[in-house]
Amino acid sequence: MVVNACASRSIVAAALGFDKKELPHKYRDALNNLIEPQPTQDAPVHEVVLTGDEADLLKLPQMRYHDTDGAPYISGSIVMARDPDTGSYSCSYNRLMIKGSRKLGIYMTPGKHLSQIYEKAEQRKQPMELAICLGSHPAWCMGALFIGPYHTDERHVMGGLMGKPLDVVRGKTIDLDVPALSEIIIEGEVAPFEREEEGPYGEFTGYSAGQVKRPFIKVKAITHRKGAIFQDVCGGPHRELLLMSTIPMEPSILDYLQKNIPAVQSVRCPAPFTLFVAIKKARDGQAKQVLLTAFAADMQVKHCVVVDDDIDITNTQAVIQAIATRSQASRDLFIVPGVSHDELDPSRQEGKPISDKVGVDATAKPSLEIFAAKPKVPEEVMERIKLEDFVGGDSE
Ligand SMILES: Cc1cc2nc3c(=O)[nH]c(=O)nc-3n(C[C@H](O)[C@H](O)[C@H](O)COP(=O)(O)O)c2cc1C
Repeated sequence: MVVNACASRSIVAAALGFDKKELPHKYRDALNNLIEPQPTQDAPVHEVVLTGDEADLLKLPQMRYHDTDGAPYISGSIVMARDPDTGSYSCSYNRLMIKGSRKLGIYMTPGKHLSQIYEKAEQRKQPMELAICLGSHPAWCMGALFIGPYHTDERHVMGGLMGKPLDVVRGKTIDLDVPALSEIIIEGEVAPFEREEEGPYGEFTGYSAGQVKRPFIKVKAITHRKGAIFQDVCGGPHRELLLMSTIPMEPSILDYLQKNIPAVQSVRCPAPFTLFVAIKKARDGQAKQVLLTAFAADMQVKHCVVVDDDIDITNTQAVIQAIATRSQASRDLFIVPGVSHDELDPSRQEGKPISDKVGVDATAKPSLEIFAAKPKVPEEVMERIKLEDFVGGDSE
């Protein structure tokens, strides 16, 4: 097995054929140049096909990353499902609790796209079919983690990132196309209305998510390459997981914001549920408009701060200083109580996936140009002072 395959920006960038500095820009190019998957007959992932009792999850590596985890988990697979109305696929990472030889617990954030497909399946009293893909090209990983409109098929983002279509083949026991070049595919379905305990599991928030009754997957088949590699991601607040999330999240949210408000210059996700946005403010109230748009861009944005673009948003101290010197809470901070949110937020309302949203307009008012003057040492003084007059020798 392998973990940490996507644990550095340089490695992910190299795998996509880019330099790491180009990564955000190239990601946005891919979003604007989507490529549909193409069917193929050449499917290494079907070299071995195991169905019925032969499809045994207990024969896979059993990874338990944290002392609080309730069972071995699969944390690094791409889960694919199809919208029953449009046929558009949703791809996402979802932790999978190994509950037995053919049963997996699953966590689907309420409101995220997979949970919306499952809600539609339940309304029709039908099971939701899933393909669970292990061993993925980094472009598939970054594509699956795209944040954006429900109807954007993430397989098209994967194609955009690779500059060529994702090769797909029909699953053996499900009516879904699966990546033909995966190492391993687990095929299964989630029955409507059935729930079982899932968790605890060490999460990206740095806390262990408790045990809750959730839907679960009945496994129908496991297919794999001969000698397949089991690729996983260590759950919890560790480098690979956090990088995998932020590499696609920042350009996805930037793309969404700039399409709506071109004054937006850059975004940064410095911590879970937190977003910084830098803008070139053109008018009063624009920062608050950006805040409202940012909350719409991704339901996981809980705390958002908007600053002027002279603030380096990669420097959290600079953002805190802007809050302290450019905002007044009674005028520039607003709270929207009780909004649908990730239930992994340990401070959420008891038992409900609901949190308060906080927006802070930390831009200079009314504008940066006429805000308090910034002092600097006069240039004439800087030119007059020669370092070597004080320390002597080579100033290099
Ligand atoms: C390694 C990893 C594990 C993740 N585990 C989960 C999970 O268990 N449940 C979940 O809802 N999202 C999880 N996520 C986040 C989603 O995959 C991500 O928000 C995705 O973009 C959701 O897809 P959607 O925007 O199409 O709804 C995980 C992300 C990573 C990188």
